[in-house]
Amino acid sequence: MCGIVGYVGDKNAYSIVIKGLRRLEYRGYDSAGIALHQQSKLTVYKKKGKVADLEDEVVGKDNGGTVGIGHTRWATHGEPSDKNSHPHVSASGKLTLVHNGIIENYAQIKAELIKKGYQFHSDTDSEVLLNFIEDIQINNACPLEEAIRIALRRVVGAYVILVLDEADPQTIIAARKGSPLVIGIGKGEHFLASDASPMLEYTKEVVYINDYELAIVRPDELILKNLGNERITPYVQKLDLELSAIEKGGYDHFMLKEIFEQPQTIQDCLRGRLDLTNGDIHMKGIEEYAAQLVIAPRIIILACGTSWHAGLVAEYIIEELCRTNVEVEYASEFRYRNPIINPGDVIIAISQSGETADTLVAIETAKAKGAIILGVVNVVGSSIARASHAGAYTHAGPEIGVASTKAFTAQLTVLTMMALKLAKLKGTITTERFLHLLHELQAVPQKVSDILENHLNIEALAKKLTEAKGFLYLGRGVNFPIALEGALKLKEITYLHAEGYPAAEMKHGPIALVDEHLPVVFVATKDAYHEKIVSNMQEIKARKGRVISVITEGDTVSPTVSEEIFVIPEADELISPILSVIPLQLLSYYLGIIKKLDVDKPRNLAKSVTVE
Ligand code: M6R
Repeated sequence: MCGIVGYVGDKNAYSIVIKGLRRLEYRGYDSAGIALHQQSKLTVYKKKGKVADLEDEVVGKDNGGTVGIGHTRWATHGEPSDKNSHPHVSASGKLTLVHNGIIENYAQIKAELIKKGYQFHSDTDSEVLLNFIEDIQINNACPLEEAIRIALRRVVGAYVILVLDEADPQTIIAARKGSPLVIGIGKGEHFLASDASPMLEYTKEVVYINDYELAIVRPDELILKNLGNERITPYVQKLDLELSAIEKGGYDHFMLKEIFEQPQTIQDCLRGRLDLTNGDIHMKGIEEYAAQLVIAPRIIILACGTSWHAGLVAEYIIEELCRTNVEVEYASEFRYRNPIINPGDVIIAISQSGETADTLVAIETAKAKGAIILGVVNVVGSSIARASHAGAYTHAGPEIGVASTKAFTAQLTVLTMMALKLAKLKGTITTERFLHLLHELQAVPQKVSDILENHLNIEALAKKLTEAKGFLYLGRGVNFPIALEGALKLKEITYLHAEGYPAAEMKHGPIALVDEHLPVVFVATKDAYHEKIVSNMQEIKARKGRVISVITEGDTVSPTVSEEIFVIPEADELISPILSVIPLQLLSYYLGIIKKLDVDKPRNLAKSVTVE
């Protein structure tokens, strides 16, 4: 949550920081601001709204300077407003700061500062932290760097901060705990940001800052220290990311681009892993922990949101193929209830961003209790990837649309391969079934392309559903989590209420919602439960509900009970979720467009939820 950008060098800092903030808007877009070092003084511009509103605010004003920091906010403490926007300025006016994270003990520190006579101009924890730093600096007559270290040893919570000091015009001081920070190394310049996207066109050399590290960044110098003031050698890594990957590439929206990228991203995910020649799956991270996985009495999957839905699909697949007990937990619940971890338990943590605070803390909790952590993560080098013992990247490329689409199908692909690998190792799958599923996986990218070719049918369907005030999504077995995912996508993109339910469970309550206005979307692909789900459709139809079904090619029964159908190619039941979710993603997208909503940046959301 919140995106931060900083620049020190010889170029115009304003344009670099603003461009960077636009790329980081997926992390929050309640308000934005920038601080520039201009001829020995600090100039701050900030505004409620999106980065574009900030740009309007600055038109005609002085935006010169070669050192600057910026922020795009997802509000935690204090409503979105001009006064709560970052950067904040200290009481003396000499320091300014941007902050991503939450200072949990800010109220106590604020009370102490108020007693000393400090006044606050915002409701934020960030302004408290800045004045706390300044107060320490004044009282201890110490350099800013030392004051920051002392302050950060006292605060509880998560942060990335960038601080500018009026007295030191060529320096940004940065520190991190719990929120991400990347520093890009250029020639006579450095870039700081929440992820690498703001620096892509300038450098491919980056340093991922770790928790409890502090960086003193000048045009020609990057000094890294721990909070004990010991120097650390920066570990420089090469970025494997092209600018084109974070641009819209001719699509109107990132969400649509990312939905249409899925044949490619699934292919990328399979590449080098799916080995049809030798009838095998290669996953280094999983092979490293093969012995532990084979004897694991239980696998616990931890995730949030869409990633949690991927975990639910994996539960069905792993239990079916590997006969290992699987439990899927919301990371946010798991971490707070003193969870039982038995010897040998293996944790799979699923996260697109790799920065979700709830998931990160949950795996740290499990790790402390002795569990092995395998990460299924999209963002390379992210906190969850680094906190895991091993794992598998999903290789979906940057996902900019706030609603997860291609990352979800990549997660399903990786988790299916993990299940197959484990089943083979455990001997719980016949060679014939194993090879059949490998071929089924290989066929997925083409089948996804076939579905996408029919996107106009979904657009037409969306047009017929514009008046609907709420939706019910129903599925069974491995496609029940797809019903949950369809409902979540609809809520995020259209702000309509939607419920996802197991189809058979509907009669225990949600059926009361059904009337002639309620669209009920069935994920009714051909599987062992197909006749049962057709009966559920009949039950809805009998109550005049509007049955809309995602069905398998060749199904002649479902169309007889459906008002609308969307046909997807035939696939093995265990593979079908990767296909059945695609029309649901498209339906949400088109409904959002019809309603003229910002599908890439839905209200109140942020891509990377780095607060608890
Ligand atoms: O980055 P993560 O996969 O850990 O994020 C988890 C959720 O915040 C995320 O899936 C969220 O639900 C998305 N907005 C779903 O579209």
